[in-house]
Amino acid sequence: MDHETPTVRLIYMTLLSAAVWLALASLYGVTIAVKLWMPEFLPYELASFGRLRPIHTGGVLLGWLTLALVGLAILVVYRTSRRPIWSPRLGWIGLGLMNAALIAGTVTLHLGITRGPLEYREWVTPVAVLMAAGILCHGWNLLQTLIHRRVEEMYISNAFILGGFVWLPTLYVIAYLPGFDRGVEHMVIQGYYMHVILGLWFTPMAIGITYWSLPRLLQKPIYSYSLGVVAFWSNLVFYTMIGAHHFVLSPTPWWLQSIAVLLGVGMMIPVWSTVFNFSFTMVGSWAVIRREPAAWFILAGTINYGLASLQGSLQALRDFSQITHFTHYTVAHAHWAAYGFASFFVFGAVYALLPRLTAVVDRATIRPYAAWHFRFALAGITIYFVSMTISGTVQGMRWSAGLPFVASLDGVSPYMFARAIGGGLMAASHFIFLWCVWQLRPAAEPARGPIPVGPETQAPE
Ligand code: HEM
Ligand code: HEM
Repeated sequence: MDHETPTVRLIYMTLLSAAVWLALASLYGVTIAVKLWMPEFLPYELASFGRLRPIHTGGVLLGWLTLALVGLAILVVYRTSRRPIWSPRLGWIGLGLMNAALIAGTVTLHLGITRGPLEYREWVTPVAVLMAAGILCHGWNLLQTLIHRRVEEMYISNAFILGGFVWLPTLYVIAYLPGFDRGVEHMVIQGYYMHVILGLWFTPMAIGITYWSLPRLLQKPIYSYSLGVVAFWSNLVFYTMIGAHHFVLSPTPWWLQSIAVLLGVGMMIPVWSTVFNFSFTMVGSWAVIRREPAAWFILAGTINYGLASLQGSLQALRDFSQITHFTHYTVAHAHWAAYGFASFFVFGAVYALLPRLTAVVDRATIRPYAAWHFRFALAGITIYFVSMTISGTVQGMRWSAGLPFVASLDGVSPYMFARAIGGGLMAASHFIFLWCVWQLRPAAEPARGPIPVGPETQAPE
């Protein structure tokens, strides 16, 4: 076994775990989508909507996205530091703890053991502690690897990754601090946690990883390093204080809401810095982009990031929120961003980087399957987004017109059906993805290329 093999195995198993959680959580997603269309479907306590919904959100956000981002972060740090991971053993402990938390979280929620209506933090505290311990193991491991890197310069991806590993534990602790779970305090902390996990964990991690996967894939340097630095710092400044935009027109302080609305507009600086940077990097590489499904995911993810964020800034405006808040419109935005942007960047990075790493099959073997994955995923999220956007608008307009609640339910039933179909396509694409990841498992002695990837030159591998 060469000295890089333990690192490669750790990365692979982390990505495989993520793909398994994605497939599983998608089945929960389709089930709750069908339940919202046909409420009598699976009328059992263990499978009630209230139990399955947090299992779905925990599964996709903490199982799929978080594990996948951790796996890719290890890969990026290992390649850009030009050395294997500091402690593969600590990495395995981290992976074990995270998977244990995910299993425990799924089982306890099925049994109805929960902290209550605290979105994305429904797991009881001991389960959350397991997850946090896993994240800390990985964070420490990556920090040590970077400290002991074999190049002087630190590549821009690593700033985003280190930032993510500092911010996630901080906000997770705040989210679980006792004493803030009632009244207005509850809403302020809920808004803070809900958006900061999106903005200071998923967003910087997905972007940081793409700062590595895109130049690798296109075999050329990123368009501008400075735009990356602008995006990193402005994201930190603006995202930290926009959590209150989840509850505009609520009893939370008016000034807090106003700051959130204003900084939501400011978010256009980091968002468009990234969108332009990735787009200009892609200009001139159309031959690769046409050929590689990994590039399709990154291109679509870049467009989705820009547009879904623009939509987010609009949703935060009071006049807009008055119509769309509490409706399916928010669910459409949530999936467009968390799936169309963050998950698409992850899919792109896995297809771009994993074949190089494990080198068991030629990338061309996987390409047709990855292409079908892309087509199903794009068709699925488009149907999902369009149906939920129309449905949310119908709901909001009917409520604003003073119609009884039940009138809004009658109006949206066909859209619920369409969402279940779109979600079914997305779920099918995730089984193709799982199959591709399985095909890319490392051989006993992988024939990898050497590490010499200079971040300072960003020369092709
Ligand atoms: C600049 C960028 C963004 C802004 C200004 C923004 C704004 C908003 C606003 C105002 C809401 C609340 C809507 C309501 O409840 O009425 C919301 C919800 C949401 N956003 Fe964003 N968004 C942005 C980017 C993103 C990104 C990048 C992601 C994912 C990675 C994301 C994921 C979500 C999710 C999951 C929700 C639903 C939260 C919930 O109520 O459960 N957003 N966003
Ligand atoms: C595979 C197909 C999927 C289906 C059918 C599906 C379906 C659903 C449904 C029915 C809900 C509940 C909406 C409600 O309470 O009104 C939901 C919530 C949510 N799902 Fe999915 N989902 C899927 C995949 C994903 C993926 C891959 C992600 C993230 C990467 C994701 C992130 C979320 C989030 C953040 C929420 C909470 C949204 C909010 O409160 O506004 N879903 N999903």
